[in-house]
Amino acid sequence: MLVTIPRVLDAAPLAALRGLLERAGADWVDGRVTAGYQGAPVKFNQQIDERSATAREAQRIVAGALERHPLFISATLPNEIYPPMFNRYGAGMTFGAHVDGSVRIHPHSGRKLRTDVSATLFLNEPADYDGGELEVHDTYGVQRVKLAAGDMVVYPATSLHLVTPVTRGVRLASFFWVQSLVADDSRRAMLFDLDNAIQRLNQTDADADARRTLVGCYHNLIRMWSQT
Ligand code: NI
Repeated sequence: MLVTIPRVLDAAPLAALRGLLERAGADWVDGRVTAGYQGAPVKFNQQIDERSATAREAQRIVAGALERHPLFISATLPNEIYPPMFNRYGAGMTFGAHVDGSVRIHPHSGRKLRTDVSATLFLNEPADYDGGELEVHDTYGVQRVKLAAGDMVVYPATSLHLVTPVTRGVRLASFFWVQSLVADDSRRAMLFDLDNAIQRLNQTDADADARRTLVGCYHNLIRMWSQT
């Protein structure tokens, strides 16, 4: 399931974050420092050093926005969120086809985190660059994603994906992973559909008992399927 989540960042936090990244200087490092043996040969971009003060401050802005976003919560059912990372693709940079590593070590706590959901939050406007589309090979074919600044896409971390070469300008984004309470994508997709249907029914005069039953089913399915 690929879900677009609009307006994760409003204008003010977006401007603050872009300012941080513009002033980051030497905190921009070769993206291959965090790539595994599969990703490293095809990864040509730059990212903010995870241990830098810039990363910590930028992570606070994104993490704060995620916690308050109901659509993000409903689509990913987060158990733990990997501290967001930040990357930059200048002209000629690209990230070839790969599947994200299944387990990552949390850079602060040292805990292992299973990557169930991959997320890309776009930080500048599509008009600022050519190319740089996120291409996700999903169950239903190839999906090409290039969103407005502040918008985010989440997709199964099991998907093969790539970033097409940037041919003009610079593409700025944040990316991270979510260990979901519900590891299986098809179960998460059903829960997301159920939650959306309940939310829509709640805006109508539909039978209150029936709605209560559906809410009960939603929670009981999460109880049945969740791993913490
Ligand atoms: Ni990836």
